[in-house]
This record gives sequence, C-alpha cells and structure tokens, in this order.
Amino acid sequence: MEIPDLSYEIILNEDQIKERIIALGRQITRDYEGKDPVAIGVLKGSLPFFADLIRNIHLPLFTDFISVSSYKGNMKSSGGVKIINDISIPVKNKDILIIEDIIDTGATSKFMFNHFNNLKPHSFEICTLLNKQHARIPEYDININYIGFEVPDRFLIGYGLDYQEKYRNLPYIAAVKREAEA
Ligand code: IMP
Ligand code: MG
Repeated sequence: MEIPDLSYEIILNEDQIKERIIALGRQITRDYEGKDPVAIGVLKGSLPFFADLIRNIHLPLFTDFISVSSYKGNMKSSGGVKIINDISIPVKNKDILIIEDIIDTGATSKFMFNHFNNLKPHSFEICTLLNKQHARIPEYDININYIGFEVPDRFLIGYGLDYQEKYRNLPYIAAVKREAEA
C-alpha cells in the first residue's frame, strides 16, 4: 500500500516483524510456563502486535485491554497519561504482561507500572514491539523485559502506530521524513 499524502521510508518490513514476533512468542512461552499470565494490550497502538504475538504464545492466556491517551494525536509526547478504559478482569496474584506498540519517553510504561502494582499482581513485565531508548526520560526509565526492536528517535507510523489516528493499518513500520514532521 502506498501512502499518497506523506513522505516516508520503510524501516521494518512485514517479514522482519513476523520473524521477530515468533521469537518473542517463543521466549514468553518459555518464561511463563506454569505461571498465570494475563496479556494486557495497550490500545489502540498495540492492536496488530497483540493479535500476532498472542498467537505465538503457546500457553493458556488471559487477555484484556487498557486504553490510555498520551500523545494527543500529534508528534510530541505530552507526559500526562490518562486511562480512557480500564481492564475488566481481576489481576491480583496473576502474572501481568503489558503489550505495548512503542516506548518513547517511558511515561506510559511508568504509569502502567504504578497503576498495576496497586492491584497486587504476582509479577509485572512489559513487552514492547519497539523501543526508542534515546528518547527515554530518566525518571520514567523502568526495566523492559521484552523488546522487539530498538528504533531511532524518529516519528514512526504503521503496524498500529498512528499519525493523527491514521496509518495504523499499514503492515510495515515506516519513518515519516523530516520535512513532513514540522
Ligand atoms: P511514551 O509514554 O512517551 O513512552 O509514549 C508512548 C506512546 O506514544 C506510544 O504508546 C505511542 O502511542 C506514542 N508514540 C511514541 N512514539 C511514537 C511514534 O513514533 N509514532 C506514533 N506514536 C508514537
Ligand atoms: Mg500507544
């Protein structure tokens, strides 16, 4: 699919994403054997990743979603994270695995950590498809156990990531070219 109204460059193609997700699924399957895992997808960005990843986790798995807002649809992170819709199943004594599209400043993941630790899970880990380590704000820099790819600090779209709520349906991940970022 071509994007007519944006200048972009593909940085991860469908095959690369697929292959990495199989490996992540294998690792998670091994690590969570005998545990009580709950995969919690962070909407809306994690949707394609969540769908592909859970089918590569070969364990009985609870699934749920949380919907948060942080980016306000432009290219700058706001820092203020707000819950739009919370999870609907109990997670006390369960093994929470948060599924994220991308970690940027870390504000969202730090917020998740605080929010879910209050619910007294047995364990809490985060799995993100993409990590922008160079964009991390030190106070938000919590440990991330599962990372699909390290990516440069550029604005990315596709495979769940949006620009003003569009392009989440692209099957690849692309960086928007600098001149379009203004
Ligand atoms: P953080 O709270 O700053 O770590 O930002 C996390 C959220 O910001 C992600 O879940 C995305 O929704 C959004 N985000 C961060 N970087 C990008 C990007 O390059 N493209 C689109 N959305 C992004
Ligand atoms: Mg997101």
